[in-house]
Amino acid sequence: MITIVGSGRVGASTAAMLGLMGVDNKIVLIDIVKGLPQGEALDLNHMSSILGLDVYYTGSNDYADMKGSDLVIVTAGLPRKPGMTREQLLGQNAEIVYNIGKEIAKHAPDSVVILTTNPLDAMVYVMWKATGFPRERVIGFSGVLDGGRLAFYAGQRLGVSPASIIPIVLGQHGESMFPVPSKSFVYGVPLDKLMRPEELREVVEETVKAGAKITELRGFSSNWGPGAGVALMARAVKRDERRALIASVVLKGEYGVSDVPVEVPIVLGRGGALKVLEVELNEEERAKFAQSVEAIRKLLNSLPSQYK
Ligand code: 2OP
Repeated sequence: MITIVGSGRVGASTAAMLGLMGVDNKIVLIDIVKGLPQGEALDLNHMSSILGLDVYYTGSNDYADMKGSDLVIVTAGLPRKPGMTREQLLGQNAEIVYNIGKEIAKHAPDSVVILTTNPLDAMVYVMWKATGFPRERVIGFSGVLDGGRLAFYAGQRLGVSPASIIPIVLGQHGESMFPVPSKSFVYGVPLDKLMRPEELREVVEETVKAGAKITELRGFSSNWGPGAGVALMARAVKRDERRALIASVVLKGEYGVSDVPVEVPIVLGRGGALKVLEVELNEEERAKFAQSVEAIRKLLNSLPSQYK
């Protein structure tokens, strides 16, 4: 059984993808808004019936209904509006995430938590503190999204399927995000050997600005990319796939960083983040990575003390 806390666009898209990908046949949607999770669940049950998926959705306003879930996905919180950075959501979302973390610790104490709330890395920290879970079981979603975007834009330029690209994006899911072309490979050939520096700069820029561009264009932030990425991560956990992907986890000395959540490659399986992989970086790349970590640290420092 999987619980999704937050029945906004990201929660609903994730719920649909989980069903379509056959990740679990019992999915609970929880939200504080009366009627919203119940209505979404009903609509999703109809989807499941039409497609013959045998997946059953339940909607609830009671956190106790997550009991029995081995995976809890948290998509709750305010999304950014046009012109906003993710970082501007810090204060309001910290309280929401902290309170949900306490509920998870109470009702699903052995679960793995995957979180999408922005500003992502800081919210992973708040969730880690609120639940008291080991860092392996509190995982921030975003690296799959940022990587998927890098693979898309690079694939468009190169005339190559994004599926043939292993994209590496490190650091913050925010303004200082760090796509790493020298470590992103098309079957053994790094992007910086396939593209001119100018083209590469554009691809990197498009990747970093992708979320803001979607928000500007349609007036609300992304949900299909996040829904797909979270479902992929959920499947890795539920089936113990031990899939390598990028996610935000609290580092414990890796990359010379401690107690800060950062986007890095991990191996994801039933127990959560089973391993953190350290990408070898040159001096210039190390400096960019450090800058990005510093931006996250700054956000953590500005968190109200009750959330850390
Ligand atoms: C994104 O990058 C909203 O952070 C989300 O689209």
